[in-house]
Amino acid sequence: MVIIALYNLKGGVGKTASCVNFAYLAAKDGYKTLLWDIDPQGSTSFYYQAKAKYKGGIKKLVEKDADIEEAIMAANYENLDIIPADVSVKSFDVMMEELKSSKKRLKSLLQPFNKAYDFVFLDCPPGFSVLAENIFNASDIVLMPVIPTTLSIRTYEMTKDYFKEKSIDLSKMMCFFTMADLRKNMHNEIMETLYKDKKFFENYIPYLSDVEKMGVHRVPLEEFAKSGYAAKCYRDLWQEIKEGVLE
Ligand SMILES: Nc1ncnc2c1ncn2[C@@H]1O[C@H](COP(=O)(O)OP(=O)(O)OP(=O)(O)O)[C@@H](O)[C@H]1O
Ligand SMILES: [Mg+2]
Repeated sequence: MVIIALYNLKGGVGKTASCVNFAYLAAKDGYKTLLWDIDPQGSTSFYYQAKAKYKGGIKKLVEKDADIEEAIMAANYENLDIIPADVSVKSFDVMMEELKSSKKRLKSLLQPFNKAYDFVFLDCPPGFSVLAENIFNASDIVLMPVIPTTLSIRTYEMTKDYFKEKSIDLSKMMCFFTMADLRKNMHNEIMETLYKDKKFFENYIPYLSDVEKMGVHRVPLEEFAKSGYAAKCYRDLWQEIKEGVLE
């Protein structure tokens, strides 16, 4: 089981769009895949048209002796299961309280699924918090979509510092560029500089309207724009990530 968290300190950088497509592509490859929408915004659940069946919310999921199996639902695609978001703010607060007591709670929660799933994807909310720390400890890969702008470099460096401060293995952190616009000099220059860091996958996701249209279709790219360039970019990037992770 490989746990991949789509994470960025910054909001609106393409974590959800990427998580939705990677999970779909992993399942399509034949891997048993679990997608956990851990962000109370519930955007991944929106794209997958999945509503939590588990009353009592995410709070119950993180309690001692919790059985997260009860919260797992089959998604509309073969090999893909989903834990939809708990959109109640109250239970999110309770979860944060629960996670404060142990920074490894999420890790132990997912451990029983070691044999059941090949890949687990976590769609994370932005920001540093006890949740983020739990996510970093639980994940094999902290996968960060990065828009090639000056502010993104700053948050990228801040995240590296956070890893060091919390003694989290920095080799877990891997990145890819998203919403890239190569007509912009700044994007080109920043990509060139950051590629030298060796933390970035070669393939990147350009700024493409098909990705935005996922919100209208409420399905992954492959399902409505398979022959389009955005779907191709995600396939190529997923292939590279998969090879990097499974090597
Ligand atoms: N490659 C892209 N090209 C164009 N638009 C994109 C691309 N990736 C994402 N978007 C759009 O940008 C917006 C933010 O994307 P998304 O919701 O995936 O980001 P996020 O990092 O998950 O945000 P949040 O921090 O709020 O969870 C969405 O409207 C999405 O459709
Ligand atoms: Mg999101």
